[in-house]
Amino acid sequence: MTNWIELEQKFAFEVFPKRDLVIIRGQGASLWDDRGNEYIDCTAGIGVANVGHANPDVVEALHAQAQKLITCPGIFYNDARARLMQKLVRAAPQGLTRAFLCNSGTEAMEAAIKFARLTTGKNGFISAMRGFHGRSMGALSATYKYREEFEPLIPGHQFVPFGNLSKLEAAIETDTGAIILELVQGEGGVRPADPDYLKGVQALCNQNDVLLIVDEVQTGFGRTGKMFACQTYEIDPDIMTLAKGIAGGVPMGATLCNDRIASAAGKHGSTFGGNPLACAAAEATIDYLQSHGLAERAAELGAAFVGRFNTRSPTVVREVRQLGLMIGIELKARSRPYLEKLMLAGVLALPAGPTVIRLLPPLVISEEKLLEACDILADVLNQDPSA
Ligand SMILES: Cc1ncc(COP(=O)(O)O)c(C=O)c1O
Repeated sequence: MTNWIELEQKFAFEVFPKRDLVIIRGQGASLWDDRGNEYIDCTAGIGVANVGHANPDVVEALHAQAQKLITCPGIFYNDARARLMQKLVRAAPQGLTRAFLCNSGTEAMEAAIKFARLTTGKNGFISAMRGFHGRSMGALSATYKYREEFEPLIPGHQFVPFGNLSKLEAAIETDTGAIILELVQGEGGVRPADPDYLKGVQALCNQNDVLLIVDEVQTGFGRTGKMFACQTYEIDPDIMTLAKGIAGGVPMGATLCNDRIASAAGKHGSTFGGNPLACAAAEATIDYLQSHGLAERAAELGAAFVGRFNTRSPTVVREVRQLGLMIGIELKARSRPYLEKLMLAGVLALPAGPTVIRLLPPLVISEEKLLEACDILADVLNQDPSA
């Protein structure tokens, strides 16, 4: 049998810390390795496979579109793209009327930063400590971690503590053009914002004529119990960035803008952005999410998970944080050894910082499977991971 780990190690210019696992197949909320072992997937490709792996409607849409037209640059109009944009805007918070399509969350944020600058003519941005918005030089400038070795980044970006309204207010200057926030910090440890804080942020933006950019790359597409977390928190951003769950696993990002945002015609672009193949997958994904009520399901299943987990409450757990099927379990110890034990026990989960276990299962996961994963996790957390 080919050793895929060796082969990949030989040729990859590695950037990710890797696990000793070769995933070769997925279906719904299950993944299989190259030895035929099945895992309950609580990663969903890091919050991507919201409609499940190999979702049949997405597969069918990809197949049909691939036979018709795979690529079509933005210099032409296209039927699949037009349909998707209409669907996306209709599903989005009211006021977001236009979409720029790209290929990842980082690109969506890069575009958001550029569009904000074009609109305001200002270079100042404020984002949150522990926030994550991507790794290109622009998106990284708004990201709290992973930056030191790459500085100098784009000047004018400053950070304030997430949830502290008075520090945010004090940071606003005449050159501040936009505030960039996740509504639930994902990579930063699964931290849902306080609703009053977000209401305050919205008010500060309005009072100071500052744009609000909300990053829903991880929280979007049903993950947190509504199609978008903005709808839970009743926030009206000027710009919303999307990616991950948008197209059932096919790479895609989107930057949605309201009517305040100035046109960037002739000033930005992407060869692959809005290609018909990704658009067809995204259309099928949004249809599936809506027709199967997956956002509501995420709300119910997330509550069921926490209810069950709290009956076990292993002593190593410091806190459980959750919105929909975005679940963070903060430990009093490092999470890595527990994640490895969990993998050996047949459940795949993610870290979010050094001490948090993050669960982002596909929203199609059955309640039975989710609670099985919950019990396995509680068992693993009740044991010494070095044993
Ligand atoms: C909130 C948020 N924004 C942006 C990104 C970057 O997205 P991508 O990895 O698709 O570039 C991520 C990725 O994890 C994210 O969680």
